[in-house]
Amino acid sequence: MKFSDPEQEIQRLEQENAKLRQFIDIGKHVGAEHNIDRLFPLIMTQISRFLDADRSTLFLVNWENRNLWTKYAEGMAGNGVTIELKMGIAGMCILTRHVINIANAYEYSLFNPEIDQKTGFRTESVLAVPILGDDGVAAGALQFFNKTTGLFSRLDEYQIQQAIRDFLRQEKHGFGPCIPTEKAKTFVAKLRQRLQCERGTLYVRENSQIRSIVSEGIEGMDIRLNISLGIAGTVAVTGKPMNITDAYADPRFDKRTDERTGYHTRCILCVPIIACSGEILGVIQAINKKDGVFTETDMEWLTTLASMVAISLENALLIQEQQRQFTSVLKVMAASIDAKDSLTAGHSEQVEKYAIGIARELGFGESEQDILSVAALLHDYGKLGIDDQVLKKPGKLTDEEYAHIQKHVAFTRKILGNMHLSSKYRSVPLIASCHHERLDGSGYDKGLKGSDIPFMSKIIAVADIFEALTANRHYRKAMSPVEAFAILDMEADARRLDPHIVSCLKSFWTKTNPGSDIF
Ligand SMILES: [Fe+2]
Repeated sequence: MKFSDPEQEIQRLEQENAKLRQFIDIGKHVGAEHNIDRLFPLIMTQISRFLDADRSTLFLVNWENRNLWTKYAEGMAGNGVTIELKMGIAGMCILTRHVINIANAYEYSLFNPEIDQKTGFRTESVLAVPILGDDGVAAGALQFFNKTTGLFSRLDEYQIQQAIRDFLRQEKHGFGPCIPTEKAKTFVAKLRQRLQCERGTLYVRENSQIRSIVSEGIEGMDIRLNISLGIAGTVAVTGKPMNITDAYADPRFDKRTDERTGYHTRCILCVPIIACSGEILGVIQAINKKDGVFTETDMEWLTTLASMVAISLENALLIQEQQRQFTSVLKVMAASIDAKDSLTAGHSEQVEKYAIGIARELGFGESEQDILSVAALLHDYGKLGIDDQVLKKPGKLTDEEYAHIQKHVAFTRKILGNMHLSSKYRSVPLIASCHHERLDGSGYDKGLKGSDIPFMSKIIAVADIFEALTANRHYRKAMSPVEAFAILDMEADARRLDPHIVSCLKSFWTKTNPGSDIF
């Protein structure tokens, strides 16, 4: 058998990547919109366009009444329609927490043609994806109708699930900038020392709020204020500095923080933190000058400090953006390799999730987790160089084919080795390419033994096997976690896998699946 050239394969996948990058761009549009009610329609329209779907609907579930209501229905006047949870495709998708991908709705028993009859729309293909919270409970479902360029694919399913996860994560952690706290502390300490004041606070703007990231003199307080409220809020909106000599005489002063804390604010100096683009990033505020009120010189000095803070904040934003970009590229790479074989969509990300779960059990630091995360996401990247026919062959592989598949780890090492990775990630190609090595030397491709195998590779090996055994495949039912752990235990007893790593995966699994008392 002739195997295809890895270089050609890479070229083909690069084209696929271009499409995937377009998908990542959706995130950028979405990130710029902070109003949640405008955000939903925006996301839906962007994703529909990406999927070539005719229209889309967002269903939210009310578990108390066991019904669904349409939060947003693109292209039709169907907002706010309530339907029973047990009726229809969206309900089934929510109840089973599984994606439903249908070529022809009218041939599907659960399809409810009532809305078509009312609207005159003719539903053909349908893709319904559940929206799952961290706790695994479905909050609703996204439904897409009538793909204009064919049928919804496995890759479509996978990408929408990914988009939902990313969106939920972004919403939870906020869209605003984050300046490293240590740096911010230095600025505020400088402020208190130079201006001889009791308190100093640095606020960053986040959506319709400003949030304190450092409050000197009021330790441990996380202050969130509505924008336009109080002196800091006013400065955050107007972008004009304020020097208030008698706070209580100023109607814009918000007394509530004082009332809550028993503190007495006399005078305030507050200046905006403005980016080069003119965008107001936050405010910096000094309270109660020890010997009187703040002067014109104080204000000039604080304005200079604010411009330094602005640069720091902008840099932090750029670094954040770069990191996001890096993560996006990694995900695109992982998704492109998983997309090569539709049976394994999501495999790499799931392996990464298990590997990080193990690492946390082991007490890994943030930096080590980052390295492991990249290696786990890209462990199978060398499958790019493996012939599709061999990769997807349903039956038993010949010796020649098996030897060919085993080459994917060498390809992983070669391709990742050619990537420009920062020094932190230098060990990634080696770690990723040793995920099929076994402690007793029976693995491939080098047959390394024991401590010659990088420790992180041993973690990925356990995560990889567990994922492969417990994932749903079209050709076989997923193995139960009990059965999968029995196999891992056997492998650990035979000294092929590290028993401690296996037990860490068990602890992680038990924690993330409460109530399922299997050990
Ligand atoms: Fe592999």
